[in-house]
Amino acid sequence: MLAGIREMLVISTPRDTPVFESLLGTGREWGIELGYAAQANPGGLAQAMIIAEGFLNGGPSALILGDNLFYGHEMISLLKEASAQEEGASVFAYRVNDPKRYGVVEFGPDGRAVELAEKPERPRSSYAVTGLYFYDSLAPGLARTLAPSPRGELEITDLNRLYLKRGLLSVKVMGRGFAWLDTGTHESLLEASQFIRTIEKRQGLKIACPEEAAFRNGWIGRDELRALGERMRGNPYGEYLSAVADEG
Ligand code: G1P
Repeated sequence: MLAGIREMLVISTPRDTPVFESLLGTGREWGIELGYAAQANPGGLAQAMIIAEGFLNGGPSALILGDNLFYGHEMISLLKEASAQEEGASVFAYRVNDPKRYGVVEFGPDGRAVELAEKPERPRSSYAVTGLYFYDSLAPGLARTLAPSPRGELEITDLNRLYLKRGLLSVKVMGRGFAWLDTGTHESLLEASQFIRTIEKRQGLKIACPEEAAFRNGWIGRDELRALGERMRGNPYGEYLSAVADEG
């Protein structure tokens, strides 16, 4: 939503997709359109582009992994810049102390990305590729040309390498002032929760509140936001929405 994207497709397992749909609904109340599609088997992240091909209908796209969490002051400008790029793909590189767990960027002497490797035994840098990708309209077609990796998946790193080989991959470093967290293990989920709680508690502002984002983007009006708050009256989330709606 902060990137200005209003049409989204949620892709999950056949078991979980209906659960996400009952939780999130159509998106209409947040001024967005949500669609849902199941991935029959864990066939890899790049398969998302094939599943989404009809939804994308020849347009560009952004892909974000559900277990990745991004936070930072320059987030909106970073997202808008990537979103405005018409040709090629953009990925973000972030310094981590355990790059082996991720896709890793290798930089040449001039600081440009020269290679990407998925979970390398010997990482060529400490910069991991985050789970947020922007693609031009060619991505579904390119994803169809990929062969499964040794772990049997269509790797997003292989799709990104196709763009890199064509000189069409922009690798933007997400600096140390950003937080990129993942929530794929119990421990990392708890750590991310504590991080968010600390900031929300200190500022009295919510992080990733879709109702507020919709309101500040001008996609819903003050009355609509107030009605959403009313529906959740008596809990802190609803009270927060009402307070935002009543702001001067
Ligand atoms: C996936 C990608 C990897 C990327 C990571 C980000 O890893 O394959 O390149 O760095 O997401 O979270 P996976 O979740 O499949 O281990």
